[in-house]
Amino acid sequence: MEGLKKKAIEILKNNWQGSFTIPCAGLYPFQWKWDSGFIAIGLAHFDMAKAKKEISTLLDAQWGNGFIPHIIFHNESDTYFPGPDYHSTYLHPQASKKYKSTGMTQPPVTGFVLQELYRIEKDKEDTLLFIEKVIDKVYENHNYFYQNRDPFHEGLVYIYHNWESGTDNSPMWDDIFETMNSPEYSFKRRDTAHVNPEQRPSKREYDHYLHILEIAKEHHYDDKKIAESSPFLVQDPLFNSMLIKSNQSLIELYALIGNNHEKIGQLKEWQKKSIRAFNEKLYDKELGAYIHYDLRNDKSIKHISSSSFAPLFAGIPSQERAQRVIDTLEEKFGGKDNYLCASFDTTSDKYNPVKYWRGPVWINLNWILYYGLKKYGFQDLALQIKNDSIELVEKVGFYEYFDPRKEIYRSGDCKGYGGRNFSWTAALILDLLNKK
Ligand code: GLC
Repeated sequence: MEGLKKKAIEILKNNWQGSFTIPCAGLYPFQWKWDSGFIAIGLAHFDMAKAKKEISTLLDAQWGNGFIPHIIFHNESDTYFPGPDYHSTYLHPQASKKYKSTGMTQPPVTGFVLQELYRIEKDKEDTLLFIEKVIDKVYENHNYFYQNRDPFHEGLVYIYHNWESGTDNSPMWDDIFETMNSPEYSFKRRDTAHVNPEQRPSKREYDHYLHILEIAKEHHYDDKKIAESSPFLVQDPLFNSMLIKSNQSLIELYALIGNNHEKIGQLKEWQKKSIRAFNEKLYDKELGAYIHYDLRNDKSIKHISSSSFAPLFAGIPSQERAQRVIDTLEEKFGGKDNYLCASFDTTSDKYNPVKYWRGPVWINLNWILYYGLKKYGFQDLALQIKNDSIELVEKVGFYEYFDPRKEIYRSGDCKGYGGRNFSWTAALILDLLNKK
């Protein structure tokens, strides 16, 4: 395992850009919001100063209204589409003047990442001083979500673009795209120059992605108008679980810091409402899983993906419900033929083991599941997910995503998919290896 740790550290060192880390060379040349969080956890294991810098840089790009963008374009690069000019975030009056970025966000992991830094670092006092300096920005980000992304005051926030989910081309969105009548755009993709198109979203899917973006731009990224008119408006269980987990971390960290009664009170209020609404609205008894809700078309999306299990990480289900959810996981994602955990229901006809978020295993979701399973006492399954993650990386390297089918690796010529030397894969494997 020492060799694997060394390699993980080397990748993180190579992808470090002086004040932030790229997800991987070529394919993703900027800073991504949730990648940054996972990466900081890895950095904390060998270079706390860099972990802190990673987070400070991200938070420095926060907008005046508390919003934190999904990509921060720190450098000029014409190797990425759609780039800063396309996103045109200057249209929003409170956008950062200092950084170019996108006008969409990603799962709010930063709150629990701060708590992870505190867990990992031995010098608690120094880490808490750092947390004290930045924590209000994360709080403001949560406040932004509850004020602007929850139009019916349910305690559940929406995403207005599939890129906000982090699970870009999940089959979850297929039916929504069918309702959209997106135009055929002409544009030059960059991702397929780096990665086999078989493993990436289709041209038609990109038309939909751009169409939603055009609508948001038309409205100058105004949240109210987006809520009224975006054809894509979804309450996502992964996104909301990250928010709820981070709420809890903020409550605990503010308590350690002291003198923050008001904020703690507000966080507890959000937390109570969110957890209740989550269990009422985003749980499907028949499927035995948490599901997505299509807020625009007012209906549940009746599919199961790895996002369906993220609520364990945030302590959302009761023990009894957690057991039911785990049965579903074992039935539809487990078995002796597959590595855990496919990103989509392996028994569905929409499942595709090579195509990005339509089936492959992703290490960040495995990491989330590992800690979620442990929280509820499912030690064996937790260990299996950890071992599967390590085995995949040992077999093919620190890739972006992996084929779940075990048989595929038997010939020995199978590779991982997507980007190589991928930062969050390195960071989170390092964390799993260092975990006793
Ligand atoms: C892909 C993933 C997204 C990630 C980004 C950068 O777009 O779907 O979750 O943040 O790459 O790694």
